[in-house]
Amino acid sequence: MQDLPTIAWHDGKVRILDQTLLPHELVMLEISDYLGVIQAIKSLAVRGAPAIGAAAAFAVVLSVWHESDSDRAGFIEKANKAITEIKAARPTAKNLFWAVERMRETLAKNLNRPLHEIRQELLRTAQWLLQDDLQRCQAIGKFGAALLPDRCNILTHCNAGALATAGHGTALGVIRSAVAQGKRIHVFIDETRPLLQGSRLTTFELQEENIPATLICDNMAAALMRRGMVQLVLVGADRIAANGDTANKIGTYGLAVLAKHHNIPFYVAAPWTTIDMELNSGQLIPIEERDADEVRRMQGRLIAPEDIPVWNPAFDVTPNNLIDLLITDRGVVRPPFAGTLAQMMKS
Ligand code: MRU
Repeated sequence: MQDLPTIAWHDGKVRILDQTLLPHELVMLEISDYLGVIQAIKSLAVRGAPAIGAAAAFAVVLSVWHESDSDRAGFIEKANKAITEIKAARPTAKNLFWAVERMRETLAKNLNRPLHEIRQELLRTAQWLLQDDLQRCQAIGKFGAALLPDRCNILTHCNAGALATAGHGTALGVIRSAVAQGKRIHVFIDETRPLLQGSRLTTFELQEENIPATLICDNMAAALMRRGMVQLVLVGADRIAANGDTANKIGTYGLAVLAKHHNIPFYVAAPWTTIDMELNSGQLIPIEERDADEVRRMQGRLIAPEDIPVWNPAFDVTPNNLIDLLITDRGVVRPPFAGTLAQMMKS
């Protein structure tokens, strides 16, 4: 898995591992224009909050990569137009907006330099964002691994692994780091309907690294907990509000309610780039609603009446009172989250 980067820059193109085809086909998309990257983000060929951010940064680079060096106004206009369009690709993950904002800053700071130098600066920032995310995930892994007991069963939802980041992962990064320390961990993986990120991606990652894992359907979590088969729930995040409320893949909130009922700790692992200090509450986090056919169909095959109305939110918000710990790259945050997050933001 470590050898298979989710996103890479190669020779004027962005290489993206097409996650819609996993685990059965390993296909690298080679994308040479920013609209192609937007499409890859929308279709979930690249997904997971930090990975979306990194892909978005390279999309900004692509938007000006082939622009003429003599038309300054056209170059700047193209970059700004692309930035607006890239930000509209998906609404929930904070990392998308964080990464694109770093790109916009780079553009603004270098505005008076020759255009070929601006292009290189944009590329440098995008490469840095990728490296920065990997380091953040490794830090999350270090802080989180120290919290995990030896011999434990962890339930996770969706995919918060190397595929969802620049590498190592957030929730799976914690598990990877703990396993590297010799801790004996077994992971229960929610399949994660409708798009099956758990059964297609998390299974793939854990098997690649020989981490013991068992797949369950989403509706089996309650029974699993009731039988005492899980000691911890560990998930990633798409956006965390200033009070600790956390948006993550649809179904996460249900797991948190179940974990509280069964007295099982519920931890969220995320880089600081997922935290949105401008939103005081999770109720303000925009929740993406996706195409009805994602629910009516499975892997393209119709599994419901063709015309049945569907509600398909991609994320839900887990209120802070159901979260026991936030594991970030700056350290572990305990409730009440609001004060501590604000303090850590300043330091
Ligand atoms: O719709 P997706 O697959 O992009 O949703 C991804 C998740 O919900 C992940 O749990 C989250 O982005 C954390 S990734 C480190």
